[in-house]
Amino acid sequence: MKNVITIDGPSGSGKGTISKLLAIKLGYNYLDTGALYRAVAWKVREEKTNPDNEEALKKILEDIKINFEGNRIFVDGIDVSSAIRTAEIGELSSRVSAKPAVRAALFSLQREMGLQGKVVIEGRDTGTAIFPEAENKFYLDAGIEERARRRYEELRVKDPEATLEKTIEDIRKRDTRDSSRENAPLMKTDDMVYIDSTRLSIEEVVVKILEHLK
Ligand code: DC
Repeated sequence: MKNVITIDGPSGSGKGTISKLLAIKLGYNYLDTGALYRAVAWKVREEKTNPDNEEALKKILEDIKINFEGNRIFVDGIDVSSAIRTAEIGELSSRVSAKPAVRAALFSLQREMGLQGKVVIEGRDTGTAIFPEAENKFYLDAGIEERARRRYEELRVKDPEATLEKTIEDIRKRDTRDSSRENAPLMKTDDMVYIDSTRLSIEEVVVKILEHLK
């Protein structure tokens, strides 16, 4: 499968920025699968649902309507693009993403979106569970302090209470949960090209990926 490029990696590895840029360079669509989990988390918080109650989660998943329009994301017609980018929703999305019911509901949505044409799809399991048959798979990584620093630069604009120490702690917790869950954990497999972006610029990472494309 040549039309799908998968990019997986932990929080703050730069996969969002890099995937978007790569998609523009190649004239591909871009699918941010983390935004789907964040959208579900947003609704869970909005409805004050207990994220550990699988039945209540299933009800939310039956009713929720998620749409992308350009680079904006809508839940039930509400533009949540900015509201989903907080530390609180990041944490909640990681918790709900460990629930099998949530992963099952978002699986077909991601397959359908990915099969619409040429696409760069990024997340935690895009090369392992969503498009295991893709020919071009990448795993982006960076040291935890650098990843936290990048995330903190984004968060501090919105949240004056954010600190670098707290961001490091949050990222560490999220890394552990996202990689140790039973269902489609974040994982590097042998068929993925591994890129450590700790000391690379965005442009340098994109160049590396372009060099590897089959
Ligand atoms: O990439 P992100 O920070 O926007 O992702 C938010 C959470 O969603 C992440 O902590 C785990 C979950 N996620 C997932 O389980 N599978 C994906 N393919 C993408 C994200």
